Amino acid sequence: MVVASARANIALVKYWGKRAKALNLPAAGSLSLTLADLKTQTEVRLRSEGEDTLLLDGKLASHKATARVSQFLDLVRSISNSSARADVISENAFPTGAGLASSASAFAALAKAATTAYGLKLSDRELSVLARQGSGSAARSIFGGLVRMYAGQQADGQDAYAEPVLGAQIELSAAVAVVDKGEKLVGSTEGMEHTRLTSPYHQAWLHQVDKDLVTCTQALKSGDFDELALVVEGSCLAMHADAMAARPGVIYFCGATLWAMEQVRKLRKEGVPICFTVDAGPHLVAFTPPDYVQSVATRLQGHPDITRVITSEAGEGAKIELSSSP
Ligand code: PMV
Repeated sequence: MVVASARANIALVKYWGKRAKALNLPAAGSLSLTLADLKTQTEVRLRSEGEDTLLLDGKLASHKATARVSQFLDLVRSISNSSARADVISENAFPTGAGLASSASAFAALAKAATTAYGLKLSDRELSVLARQGSGSAARSIFGGLVRMYAGQQADGQDAYAEPVLGAQIELSAAVAVVDKGEKLVGSTEGMEHTRLTSPYHQAWLHQVDKDLVTCTQALKSGDFDELALVVEGSCLAMHADAMAARPGVIYFCGATLWAMEQVRKLRKEGVPICFTVDAGPHLVAFTPPDYVQSVATRLQGHPDITRVITSEAGEGAKIELSSSP
């Protein structure tokens, strides 16, 4: 039995659009921060026969979720030349399905636990390539702190991996304003594919990502927060503009998201080093140095649709918590 943990990450420069769907290959790179408190812990036990099972936060998972995990385990089985089935028990230390990047921590933890359980010894880069096939953003959660993902060019995806960004002069924490919207969202895979196929802005978006990656890395390394805020908010808004320009348009923001954006910009005017981003959901993530994060959280709590604000420091990469023979 093997237990591994991984933490979700939030992108500063966004990933939106695949170059190949089957292998989950991104059309452009991205850059993210792994968050300590958005943690998933996953246990994998092998069995000689039967079906794979998935227990998610104490409940038997849906057929769809189990099939996705089973498909991922097929990859691990093919590399390890094993036919063993697995019982997977996964717990999230944050609300699942709330659009809080749970697939990133889930597939990073599963990649780490399953490869170890099946007797494989993969490098972090190989794990990143594998995790990417579960969820594009999971490739980044193999690593801690600031992480850069490469789109790569190879058809087999071996060059589409993530690695840590070293030498940043800015330390970031995050405040995640959880917006209660109560509506079914367009999932990221579906949303980005629909955008790729129908948005007239998509090529312009992809073109901008490469420039944003350079600017963001420079801003982090030179400690220029104003430049960082410009590129992080720019990447977020351009990604959403691309999605909104699809036919029909995909809108993830709601009233509380826009309200929270306004609060972040007001705080910045007041002298707080802060910037926002939003993933494929209504929640807003504010990035700010650790000293400011609590007061930022208090400010973001002031909207009726924001049910809670989760604060977190940067976190570590995927790791083994426990490993024992069955
Ligand atoms: O890897 P996925 O399918 O969870 O896609 C992630 C997409 C965004 O969260 C919107 C952006 C990103 O880079 O994380």
